[in-house]
Amino acid sequence: MKKLLFGANQILTCESKYKNYKIGKELSDIGLLHSHSIVIEDGLIKDIISNNSLNNRSDFEIIDVSGKTVLPGLVECHTHLAFAGNRSDEFKMKLDGISYEEIAKRGGGILKTVNSVRNCSVTDLFYLMKSRVDEFISQGVTTLEIKSGYGLNFENEIKQLHAIKLIDESFAIDIIPTFLGAHTYPTEFKVDHNSYLKIINDVMIPYISKNKLAEFCDAFCETTAFSAEEVDKIFDVASKNGLKIRLHTEQFNSIGGLDIAIKHNATSVDHLEVIDNSGISKLAEKEIVCVLFPGVSFFLNHKFAPARELIDSNCIVALSTDYNPGSSNILNLHLIMQIAALRMKMSIEEIINSVTLNAAKALNRSDKIGSIEIGKQADFAVFDTDNYADIIYNVGRNLNCMTIKNGEIIFKKS
Ligand code: NIG
Ligand code: FE
Repeated sequence: MKKLLFGANQILTCESKYKNYKIGKELSDIGLLHSHSIVIEDGLIKDIISNNSLNNRSDFEIIDVSGKTVLPGLVECHTHLAFAGNRSDEFKMKLDGISYEEIAKRGGGILKTVNSVRNCSVTDLFYLMKSRVDEFISQGVTTLEIKSGYGLNFENEIKQLHAIKLIDESFAIDIIPTFLGAHTYPTEFKVDHNSYLKIINDVMIPYISKNKLAEFCDAFCETTAFSAEEVDKIFDVASKNGLKIRLHTEQFNSIGGLDIAIKHNATSVDHLEVIDNSGISKLAEKEIVCVLFPGVSFFLNHKFAPARELIDSNCIVALSTDYNPGSSNILNLHLIMQIAALRMKMSIEEIINSVTLNAAKALNRSDKIGSIEIGKQADFAVFDTDNYADIIYNVGRNLNCMTIKNGEIIFKKS
């Protein structure tokens, strides 16, 4: 039986006439509909009809969203949630003025989490991740990317990717796995970089590709992590093995990562806190998504990425939590949206498009998800308000009351 999402006060379609991303002024258009219903069949959006032309509601199984605001299911396109352990001690150091980079140089940071992950089983990791995924679903997230990058040897990178696969098998939402073996050099290869690069390129990537354990290959191009030349070689191998490319770059230093990402036709470049005007011009009108993290700048007291300049230059902008224990211990996509409004000069409409359609583009699937258009997956986040501005205005609150994936209700606030 067909289903009918009926009674919404507002439907934000985020539609782009199947262009599947938005730039410049288009980002301000959220495709607002009143008095409309959404017909769902076989998990897909079959039709979007005006309530006046609705003849017989008894033909449908009704999903009642009376008075609510309906958005496309939110897309969380960049997380490191496959972590174990706790870095609250480093958080205290940060509050005392010691920087994230300094903590990394002292052997803490990512390497501390690597220790914790190496010491736990796939099952331990699975349960740690499960409650975090549940939390995202309660916020209206229907597609979620998760990276490895805290194993940093064959056994433990594969363990993380297996845990991500188990999460994918146990949740109705789409989980997108990314290999981030090039997150930083593990202690045992702190000096001998070539040996670790050889393991990534000759062992890990071919195995991951053969066993379909990741869709993307990511890396961290930074003075405390991988150089542009090193990333270039890794991306050569990843591309040959059929993995798509994304890159953490321009977070603290510009060391050539952007050019390498462009050379390899990356799907996204992520962070960009220190990108300059020449970098922005290089990305303008390219089909590479700029994934920005207001939460990282807030959490680290670091400068914000130039969202306004990127949008005004016609770059494709998406937003994400970057949820991780070191630079953004913020398991709340709504709070990220709110910080973007309050600190990055983005409008509410721009923010909503950046966590739906453009975030889907950052995962190379905006032809299937990210907007409410006929033929796309019936993925929705339903908010307990009659006005979408409330989603941003209620800072720190979660107004999502229903999450729908492929036409099925997977979360309902009691
Ligand atoms: O995206 N910058 C590199 N990686 C993560 C942080 C990981 C960590 O500190 O554990 C990020 O910010
Ligand atoms: Fe990240």
